Amino acid sequence: MERLQKVIAEAGIASRRKAEELIVSGKVKVNNKVVTKLGTKVNPSDQIEVDNKIIEKENKEYYLLNKPRGVITSTSDDKNRKTVTELIETNCRIYPVGRLDYDTTGALLLTNDGDFANIVMHPSNNMEKVYLAKLEGVIKGEQINKLKNGVTLDGKVIKASRVKLKKVDNNTNKSLVEITIHEGLNHQVKRMFESVGFRVDKLTRKKIGFFDVTDLKSGEYRRLTPKEIQKVYSYKEK
Ligand code: URA
Repeated sequence: MERLQKVIAEAGIASRRKAEELIVSGKVKVNNKVVTKLGTKVNPSDQIEVDNKIIEKENKEYYLLNKPRGVITSTSDDKNRKTVTELIETNCRIYPVGRLDYDTTGALLLTNDGDFANIVMHPSNNMEKVYLAKLEGVIKGEQINKLKNGVTLDGKVIKASRVKLKKVDNNTNKSLVEITIHEGLNHQVKRMFESVGFRVDKLTRKKIGFFDVTDLKSGEYRRLTPKEIQKVYSYKEK
């Protein structure tokens, strides 16, 4: 069961606020009866009309994409750059869950289910994000400890849950570091490394929670299984 205003909004008829106005002003019918009470719950088999037009309810869709470089994590772009939603064949109005930078690759979830997106993005649900960062320079234990103990971003102390040094190349002066974080602040990984003196040359997200893209080539995607969707919902109850 879902709230009527949410179903109207998700069908793309109006914003949630506008949907509430439509309900209160008597323009919405559920199973042929006018409903003016906000918060009325409806189920998928209920017929909903707005201004005497039956609304088409969208099915929920869920995808995991291995995002390539040079694609923007958005549903549209004013500079005409390719967007992640263009990579997925669907008629549903799906959107990306969180963001990866234009030049960042790897695991990205897309859906038209707002509740699902909120669970994945909310740090309290502990869906960790694992990144592999190629750094300009050779990182030392002291700087890794700083990342673990916390650096200040946007006035908040942000700690990496784990930091693993995978490789150091003294000849080319590069380091490969795996870093795990909870939050999804803008450019978080790049800014965390910057705050300890390193520029990120290449960044890829290996995992979001239990989703990883090792079986997907760059630009490939797959639908999530019902089990995986349920598993994400179970994070909320933890
Ligand atoms: N952190 C970043 O800096 N960039 C991303 O794309 C994701 C996390």
